[in-house]
Amino acid sequence: MNITLKQLKIFEAVAETQSYTRAAEKLNMTQPAVSMQMKQLEETIGLHLFERQGKKIVITSIGARMREHEKKILLRFSRLHEFLNVLQDKDEKITISAATTANHFVTHMMADFSRHHPNVNITLDITNRETLVSQLQSYDPDFVIMGEPPKKLDLDYQQIMENPLVVIASVDHPFVGNERSKKISMREIIEMPFVVREEGSGTKAAIRRHFKANKLNFVSSYEMSSNESIKHAVVAGLGLGIVALHTIKLELEAKKLVILNVENFPLERYWNLVSRKGKRLSPVALEFQDFILKSASFYQQSYKDLLPK
Ligand code: PGA
Repeated sequence: MNITLKQLKIFEAVAETQSYTRAAEKLNMTQPAVSMQMKQLEETIGLHLFERQGKKIVITSIGARMREHEKKILLRFSRLHEFLNVLQDKDEKITISAATTANHFVTHMMADFSRHHPNVNITLDITNRETLVSQLQSYDPDFVIMGEPPKKLDLDYQQIMENPLVVIASVDHPFVGNERSKKISMREIIEMPFVVREEGSGTKAAIRRHFKANKLNFVSSYEMSSNESIKHAVVAGLGLGIVALHTIKLELEAKKLVILNVENFPLERYWNLVSRKGKRLSPVALEFQDFILKSASFYQQSYKDLLPK
């Protein structure tokens, strides 16, 4: 039996308007085309769906029962349409918030994703861990890229890449270039002035925990809210720094900074892609998630060989 969707739509219009002429107007068709389609439908099923009563077209009891099924089919079809429209929506947005320290690789990921999705609008907020946690609390961003996800919130998260923290010094620092083969001890470096991130930063919290776990009390001499300022300060000789390895690629290549060989460093940390459980993610946001999970290891690779051997 070959019933088409087009016939069902015409059938509904005739049942609703009780007239071939008005159904034709509604569907932007001619009246003979409408009657022809209904005639073919009745022939296909071998039953009468309408009967003429004077000028009116009245639905038969078989037609009325068929209409119940037809309405369900058309409803399902319009749902399918809505779904496909969402999939093809060219103006969809993705909102991402990332830890200040993640800035260096997140923008590269965005650029690569955008090359394949030029019409997708991505908003990126770069901020410190404390703010990221409160954004997650209020279900604001689609995704957050951060160090450790906060334990007290209901979250979905996946580790996407390593985030080693290293101790850095200016090229003429007394700890650089000496002949000792042994690693510099944590106790030795803690005597030095340090430039690190501000309170509220995930990096700062991780550094403090790391020294505490090694029974040392870490005190910073200088606090700065961006990795860029820390790097400039360390290059200028203000003190040692502890930063994420991937933030210093250019300075290492330009030989402006050195990674010190310190015991218990690099401090192994991880980046996570985090979202709030229960937040509705658009199809394009899910594509972005997929892209990050598949491609993160590529961004990882480019930093591995910067570590001291
Ligand atoms: P931060 O965050 O940029 O606030 O230091 C890094 C992290 O979440 O570990």
